Amino acid sequence: MTSSEEQCRGVRHVAIIMDGNGRWAQQRNRPRAFGHNKGVDAVREAVRTAGDLGVRYLTLFGFSTENWRRPSDEVDALFELMKRFVDADLEKLHREGVNIRIAGRREGLSDDLLEIIGRAESRTAENDRCFLTIAFNYGGRDEIVRAARRLARDAASGRVDPGTVDETLFAGYLDTAGMPDPDLVIRTSGEHRTSNFLIWQAAYAELVFMDVLWPDFSADHFKSALDQYASRQRRFGGVNAA
Ligand code: IPE
Ligand code: IPE
Ligand code: MG
Repeated sequence: MTSSEEQCRGVRHVAIIMDGNGRWAQQRNRPRAFGHNKGVDAVREAVRTAGDLGVRYLTLFGFSTENWRRPSDEVDALFELMKRFVDADLEKLHREGVNIRIAGRREGLSDDLLEIIGRAESRTAENDRCFLTIAFNYGGRDEIVRAARRLARDAASGRVDPGTVDETLFAGYLDTAGMPDPDLVIRTSGEHRTSNFLIWQAAYAELVFMDVLWPDFSADHFKSALDQYASRQRRFGGVNAA
């Protein structure tokens, strides 16, 4: 193994459910948006750490299709933060060779956010040092339904023969088309659920749940999750080699 493969424990793709911003703020008697703001620093550190450790694919859950149930001022704050983060960090990430993709439903996003997303994706489309996907307005079921709708259209128009539909073809219709499945899904904040995140792609991912609230998630937490991953045995339904 090369040293970067050793550092990342052979993990190609880490996906993170960044949870606990609200509780982090509440513990400090501050509004929830204060926690989301602080969470952006942890995003920056996680992207940096992934790069340092040689994890090539990093996918971060930023806003779920269910998060619309939150008060509108909190939803507005999350959208503002997303715009500001991409706008502020785009050129730096581009210089570092990061390929940026936004997964999730585009319908319902404002024109200015769509413009920033489009700019980030086209500016970094040729980069291949690492791949940062931000799942925003993302839900696993919504993604599968959107994929099924497009596939059904292609079948109805004769572009796809229904008899050829298999897992590989279907995966090509998902927002994550072309990406390897996550090896490791980390959730912070102590909740033990996946909340509709990458439900197709994470079918065989190792899950690591950590008690830390997202704004406190550091490089050491990231490394500790990789250590836990390294101690797991992945079998994919088979049996261990003797
Ligand atoms: C951030 O944490 C995750 C987002 C939905 C942006 P939360 O806002 O869910 O924080 P908690 O879970 O209420 O503490
Ligand atoms: C999942 O966290 C969504 C994101 C991290 C963006 P939530 O805080 O929305 O999940 P639940 O409601 O606790 O399941
Ligand atoms: Mg939460």
